[in-house]
Amino acid sequence: MQSKTAPSQPAGNSGAAPTELRLEGVSKSYGGVRALQEINTTFRSGLTGIIGDNGAGKSTMMKILSGVTRPDTGTITLGEKALHLTSPVDARLSGIESLYQDLALADTLDITSNIFLGREMTRSFAGLRVLQDRAMAKAARETLSQVNIRIPDVAVPVRALSGGQRQAVALARAVRFNAPVVLLDEPTAALGPRETAAVNDIIGRLVDSGRMVIIVTHDIPAIVGMADHLIVMRAGRIVREVDPRQTNQEELLAYMVGSRT
Ligand SMILES: Nc1ncnc2c1ncn2[C@@H]1O[C@H](COP(=O)(O)OP(=O)(O)OP(=O)(O)O)[C@@H](O)[C@H]1O
Ligand SMILES: [Mg+2]
Repeated sequence: MQSKTAPSQPAGNSGAAPTELRLEGVSKSYGGVRALQEINTTFRSGLTGIIGDNGAGKSTMMKILSGVTRPDTGTITLGEKALHLTSPVDARLSGIESLYQDLALADTLDITSNIFLGREMTRSFAGLRVLQDRAMAKAARETLSQVNIRIPDVAVPVRALSGGQRQAVALARAVRFNAPVVLLDEPTAALGPRETAAVNDIIGRLVDSGRMVIIVTHDIPAIVGMADHLIVMRAGRIVREVDPRQTNQEELLAYMVGSRT
């Protein structure tokens, strides 16, 4: 059972306001390690921060939502639609754009190909579908300048980019296709201050434009100041969901380490 949206009509391109993203009974084990145990939660528009100690299951949840990992059990629903994600491209076509330093981009492909991966511009020629390379390169340059990223040449493979530039390419893709849901797993962990500021700026703009943005981070002071909603995970479970204005770092840490339950 696949829930593929036709590439000609990506859900993320509809411009529709994001709806709810719901996880019900989602579990995942790796051998004896129960990485996720019966996750039930609903994500809404705005910025949701996911925090938790190392190994809490944060990345596993992001990988399931981005089509990288299949859950053992449980359902994922975006709006009214049940998702059965089979790959990151499949997730993207369903409106979920994800951003990891390592996973989100195809290393050997150039920037333009990465932005359009799975949603290439084509035209009909003698009954054949022909890729519109020049139009895509132009659109890629326009999108990058729209998000204030200066990359000299969209024809370079993404493996030649810095961490911040890679994040920017993935974010440009989310902007270009109006992804209603954007997932970020420690997006600025490996970045310098200038790149961090640029990435945070794009994230802020995605949130302001009404997207659902979900961010995994270890930077608790920053996320408490930025997020609309916080989720604390511990040992594969969600142990607390809270409005950041109604908590403090001490309480959050207590939930993270389990001295509060
Ligand atoms: N591919 C895998 N194979 C085996 N075990 C895995 C795999 N991925 C995750 N795990 C295990 O699942 C648990 C949750 O890992 P996960 O990466 O989701 O944690 P995390 O909350 O993202 O941690 P961190 O903050 O360190 O990134 C850990 O015990 C981890 O060792
Ligand atoms: Mg992780």
